[in-house]
Amino acid sequence: MVIAKRVGVDVILWLVVACFVVEGNERARPIAGPDIYEGRNVAKDVLAPGEIINNVMSFGAKPDGKFDCTQAFMDAWRATCKSKVQARVLVPLGRFVVSAMYFAGPCTTPGPVTVQVEGTVVATTDISEYVDGEWLMFQDLSGIKLIGGGTFDGQGKDSWSQTENCETDSDSACVRAPSSIFFSRVNNGIIQNIKTLNPKGFHIFVTNCANIRLRLLKLTAPGTSPNTDGIHISHSINVKISKSNIETGDDCVSMIQGVNNVTIKRLKCGPGHGISIGSLGKYQDELEVRGIRVENCTLVGTTNGLRIKSWPEKYSGLATDISYSDITMENVKNPIIIDQEYQCSPGICQKKPSLVKIANVGFINVKGTTISPIAVDLRCSKQFPCENIQLHNIDLKLLGPILPSGARCANVKPVYGGIQMPPACP
Ligand SMILES: *[C@@H]1O[C@H](CO)[C@@H](O)[C@H](O)[C@H]1NC(C)=O
Ligand SMILES: *[C@@H]1O[C@H](CO)[C@@H](O)[C@H](O)[C@H]1NC(C)=O
Repeated sequence: MVIAKRVGVDVILWLVVACFVVEGNERARPIAGPDIYEGRNVAKDVLAPGEIINNVMSFGAKPDGKFDCTQAFMDAWRATCKSKVQARVLVPLGRFVVSAMYFAGPCTTPGPVTVQVEGTVVATTDISEYVDGEWLMFQDLSGIKLIGGGTFDGQGKDSWSQTENCETDSDSACVRAPSSIFFSRVNNGIIQNIKTLNPKGFHIFVTNCANIRLRLLKLTAPGTSPNTDGIHISHSINVKISKSNIETGDDCVSMIQGVNNVTIKRLKCGPGHGISIGSLGKYQDELEVRGIRVENCTLVGTTNGLRIKSWPEKYSGLATDISYSDITMENVKNPIIIDQEYQCSPGICQKKPSLVKIANVGFINVKGTTISPIAVDLRCSKQFPCENIQLHNIDLKLLGPILPSGARCANVKPVYGGIQMPPACP
């Protein structure tokens, strides 16, 4: 098929480019250059003087929800990225079917490139077309805005039944289903006022990136859809998530190794598996997780609330300087949980302790309702006990029978302040 061939040639081209762009270890955390959006009103989208608008319709796209628009999108992107003057891609109202494709840089425009999606971009359903593992791949870019109020429909339903479970402790490689929006080696990126619906895998995957803003997002998938994490982040520095709503089948936000300086504000999560750090200690030489701030978030009907998880045995790692404040829970199972016996039975786990160290974690002003008798569950590693875990003003009421909620602590001596419901560990 012609389109597949063109994609193939592009991939090779971009791989060659990537070899020059990426220096050193791909797994190393990127170094943050200057944050070009700091102090600017990113909410406002203003056309630059003389900015060229590359409407995908002018490149042959058809908004009928049937025609394969991949080539048209690729051509519109190329015209935009290779422009010497400021330019943007416009996807107008309508349904545009698009297969796996790259929005790859580096670009030659003087300022950040904008991709403005007003309509709905619909993924093809034949999973064999996703040879590079993701759907829309934004890669090797310095300055990119993905905006416009439109929707990315991953059409994941058919593929969910074939999704492999990647959360097992087996070392065999697990094939992830394609993420809808994939940001890799992006510096200064904004995804704003965008919806994603029913991704095959993650809604948004951010890796090897720096200075990323994710705002006003609405990510939606059924609570039963497998591995549909809302925002999954690895090997990235300076990520700000705010004013978003995530309803999905897995973690609303998941952060794994190499994540540094992430703030999450005014996020509403549920259904879903909550806001997670980890699972950590799965791979050799994992980079630490450091500097995570979660503020003013609401979790509704999630299976976990605020969770840090690591595998028993396996590999070493570190998670530190993490704070959760002003969090509201409604009907949440496991509202506060540190689980260093991940996928192993609590209390009777026969495996060796986790080699991941967890330190300097604050839970401040966490209130609401829980459906689990153990509302605060802190199970740390016997070999590397948790250090400086603070609990301040925790008020979690158990729904249903008039029973007080409880707490469990292992290999941790939390520092308590203010109200404690459940009562502090003995
Ligand atoms: C962390 O992010 C804040 C803004 O959220 C920024 O001011 C600060 O410089 C960042 N720290 C590093 C080490 O980049
Ligand atoms: C965050 O929540 C606290 C407590 O509910 C409130 O005082 C504060 O104004 C909130 N901040 C924002 C930015 O919404």
